[in-house]
Amino acid sequence: MGKRTFASDNYAGVHPAILEALIQANEGHAPSYASDAYTQRAVGRFKELFGEDVEAFFVYNGTGANVSALSAMTRSYHAIICSELAHINVDESTAPEHFTGCKLLPIPTDDGKLYPHQIEDRIQRIGDQHHAQAKVISISQSTEYGTVYTIDEVRAIADTAKRHNLLLHMDGSRISNAAVALNAPFRAFTRDAGVDVLSFGGTKNGLMFGEAVLFFNPKLASDFPFIRKHAMQLHSKMRFIGAQFDRLLADDLWAVNARHANHMARELATRIEKINGVTITRKVEANSVFVILPPVVASKVQEEYFFYPWNEKINEYRLMCAFDTTLEDIEDFVKKLEKAMITSPIRR
Ligand SMILES: Cc1ncc(COP(=O)(O)O)c(C=O)c1O
Repeated sequence: MGKRTFASDNYAGVHPAILEALIQANEGHAPSYASDAYTQRAVGRFKELFGEDVEAFFVYNGTGANVSALSAMTRSYHAIICSELAHINVDESTAPEHFTGCKLLPIPTDDGKLYPHQIEDRIQRIGDQHHAQAKVISISQSTEYGTVYTIDEVRAIADTAKRHNLLLHMDGSRISNAAVALNAPFRAFTRDAGVDVLSFGGTKNGLMFGEAVLFFNPKLASDFPFIRKHAMQLHSKMRFIGAQFDRLLADDLWAVNARHANHMARELATRIEKINGVTITRKVEANSVFVILPPVVASKVQEEYFFYPWNEKINEYRLMCAFDTTLEDIEDFVKKLEKAMITSPIRR
């Protein structure tokens, strides 16, 4: 028990300061359904980061954040443009389609990102009553490949959206990893770059649970309380999500955690790329490292350090670092990997 792995940033536990905040929030009674002081303080923190007029709501999980955000942005005859790797396309069952009623229009990607020319190609037959009407572009920051959109890249997508009267949603389940990678304030690559609605992640960066949905266009937020309830994402004891976000955003704990996770991924990549026969397949910009390994080697190492296959056709695996990954974990993992590469009978 207690061993860390490279499986996912949500295999990690809860940051001790967040646990402490939960314990403090446990004192006495507090109003329910977000009228408590902890949640109000957390909303205040988002206002400091994004502007006074931001509308911030808390939900349980990332799927709930995305699905409820997208529901607020669409009607059921709309379509949502996303990358084929997008969490909403591959890892949220059919919840996005079920709750929004929309068609997803996935676009192939090599680096996890969408580019304006691809989006332009997907916007077709607007005004044709027989055709799903593209309404939202959804991008993930950082992406599912651990790459990070630059501010200009986000802006170019937002410009494309505006030109076609579309809205821009950002799945920021790993937004803190992106912010430290860009060394830019959250606002610069979200609101100020043209994002309309943001799913702001907490769970992967040290929370026990909880994500936020932020609206930069208050008109889009008007139905959100109903949508959140309808999507079963309204927590009655909301103070426990509010207290966690209040603590995460209080003194840059979000940045400390994310910077560490990203740094660990770079340390891991630097060591792995020296091993003969192992190939790193994606740019390491946030907290993941993608590698091609002989499956027999992967199985051997997975006995001790579990990690997930990503693309089985090309023997690609994903290694994730978290706020609690240590250099010792990395050194031991790399030692095991080197040994397995040398001793595995069939190196295919
Ligand atoms: C890009 C992305 N978005 C959203 C999520 C949130 O998912 P969950 O509903 O499991 O909290 C994840 C989690 O893996 C993710 O990788």
